[in-house]
Amino acid sequence: MEDIFVSNGLLDGLYDAASFDKKLKIIHRALKQHLDAIDRISVILYDARMEILTTFIHSGRDNPLSFYECKIEKSPSLLQLKKLKKPRLVNDLDLFSDGENEHTRKIADQGYHSSYSVPMFDGENFLGVVFFNSYQSHGFDNKILLELNLYAQLINSLILNKLQATRMMVGAFKSALNLVSYKDPETGNHLERMARYSRLIAQELARDGEPGLNDEIIEHLFLFAPLHDIGKIGIPDNILLKPGKLDDAEWKVMKTHSAIGRDIIDTIADQIGLEAFEHIHLLRNISESHHETIDGQGYPNQLMNDEIAIETQIVAVADIFDALTSKRPYKKAWTNEDALEELQKLAGAKLNGDCVNILLQKKQAVEEIQKRFQDESN
Ligand SMILES: [Fe+2]
Ligand SMILES: [Fe+2]
Repeated sequence: MEDIFVSNGLLDGLYDAASFDKKLKIIHRALKQHLDAIDRISVILYDARMEILTTFIHSGRDNPLSFYECKIEKSPSLLQLKKLKKPRLVNDLDLFSDGENEHTRKIADQGYHSSYSVPMFDGENFLGVVFFNSYQSHGFDNKILLELNLYAQLINSLILNKLQATRMMVGAFKSALNLVSYKDPETGNHLERMARYSRLIAQELARDGEPGLNDEIIEHLFLFAPLHDIGKIGIPDNILLKPGKLDDAEWKVMKTHSAIGRDIIDTIADQIGLEAFEHIHLLRNISESHHETIDGQGYPNQLMNDEIAIETQIVAVADIFDALTSKRPYKKAWTNEDALEELQKLAGAKLNGDCVNILLQKKQAVEEIQKRFQDESN
């Protein structure tokens, strides 16, 4: 007897589409077949440690909301959603047109009239929110809501499946890094802060039209940035943990950590199928090229200007800024002003000047990150 392979039909491609954005578009297309009122689906994610929500993926004719983040405390309705673990229906968004916050206003201004928001959870952990919007007011009746709950569940499990898997993989790498460098001065909250400076810079660059970035890429950049020094796993202890200055020979060994980082990612990619993780090339670029400088004097490949991927240029600025403003055994923590003055000297020659400018302009956001992730000894 011959096997018969049945196509998934409407949801074809859901499990092999390359990006979350594409997966969401497939789901939207399937839903639209019989629920024409659904004009937009979007997902925002929650950063529990900063207590902020950031835009992640969307599907719809237009996109009124990108590269956007807001404090959850500024949005009472989303706070409720998180607390009650229940969906929320708004039948007439016009009521909010001068309403509760920027994102609701922007959605309403775009002509969307009703909204159904469903919170996503991983057990007790709040992951974010799925939004369904319609151009019609009172676009959702009870029967539709039932079905939307199912679709929200599907989106929730996709996120759990893929994004949580990536988060766990990053967590495992971070622990490995901690094991080898637990005496390394570069510990404390360095990784937490530099990941958030990276996200901040990327969001601003994206708003200014940087083509290589979208919300989904920015989220992965945020996830992968802390692994920039993963290659230090391969540096011998006597060099990695040496309290004093490295001599020339030792420095040469230390500088191999970026090429080692790339090898580690490639090896694990081969062995455990890391390729299945979305946007893994970002991790590859970041770990290999974060010490390249735009004048071509960096290492390991002396890349110049655009040869260095934008995500890597961002991480380099975030990493150096945090290194300067953190206390290390051999130096005091610099003030933000002094650190930014130093970065400005490097801008254009070594570092991407736009990235440096964003840190200069986003003083308050930078200070907020520093406040949230203070080092104990500071
Ligand atoms: Fe490094
Ligand atoms: Fe670092």
